[in-house]
Amino acid sequence: MIGMIAKNTRVVVLTGAGISAESGIRTFRASDGLWEEHRIEDVATPQGWRANPQLVWSFYQQRRRQLLEVEPNPGHVALAELERYLDDFLLVTQNVDDLHERAGSNNLIHMHGELEKLRCEDCGHIEAMMDEEYLTDEFVACTNCGSRVRPHIVWFGEAPFQMRQIENAVHQCDLFIAIGTSGHVYPASKYLHDANMSGARTLCINLEPPENIQFFDEFFQGKSGELLPELVEQWINDSTVE
Ligand code: OAD
Ligand code: ZN
Repeated sequence: MIGMIAKNTRVVVLTGAGISAESGIRTFRASDGLWEEHRIEDVATPQGWRANPQLVWSFYQQRRRQLLEVEPNPGHVALAELERYLDDFLLVTQNVDDLHERAGSNNLIHMHGELEKLRCEDCGHIEAMMDEEYLTDEFVACTNCGSRVRPHIVWFGEAPFQMRQIENAVHQCDLFIAIGTSGHVYPASKYLHDANMSGARTLCINLEPPENIQFFDEFFQGKSGELLPELVEQWINDSTVE
């Protein structure tokens, strides 16, 4: 078990829906998860958007409105503290909520997009639009060209954002930590293998054993909002001076 992390350890953290669960945001694949109520094809694919934009729009508008009601939890806060301590840290999140940044995380990639932002279907203009007028079930017009905007979300069949940057960091890291992710969705699920191949230590913090548990060096089972504050404290405080 690792007791300490040296300041110069290169760390990549990958988070998923589980880290925001204790903030009251539903995960995807639990029995009460979002994908139990909605078909992925209907609300999370370009085909779904073309077939029924109103349904897709309402689904994301509801999730966007929810952002105003939730707060970061101690797991988000602990990761921001870990980042402040380390020299080289990248947080890669599959989450589209903004709880990591609100907890103080800086070096952060939203590989599946951001609920806060909307993107023009025509001119590609991307803008954070969270005023009340943009949160109804009415479609919103681009402030640049007037065309309809879509959620700035990576749907199934679309390429995640900043893959090159993520892959570089994963290949170079000494320690890879996955938190609150079931390991079902590619390419996020492959970063564990890349980290292993590059010789990094790999840790997992998750409520249930994830799909790819056998490929982690260590598994901490429990809620990230409870485990992370303790672990980060331990990793930071036990650390010896080089
Ligand atoms: P999932 O819903 O697949 O998995 C969430 C994981 O978090 C599960 O393994 C839970 O056991 C775990 N979990 C739940 N509560 C937890 C807690 N309090 N502390 C720690 N772990 C907890 O969500 P993701 O793996 O994030 O993509 O799903 C990946 C992608 O699939 C999402 O980004 C989304 C979805 O389809 C898109 O929409 C493009
Ligand atoms: Zn536009």
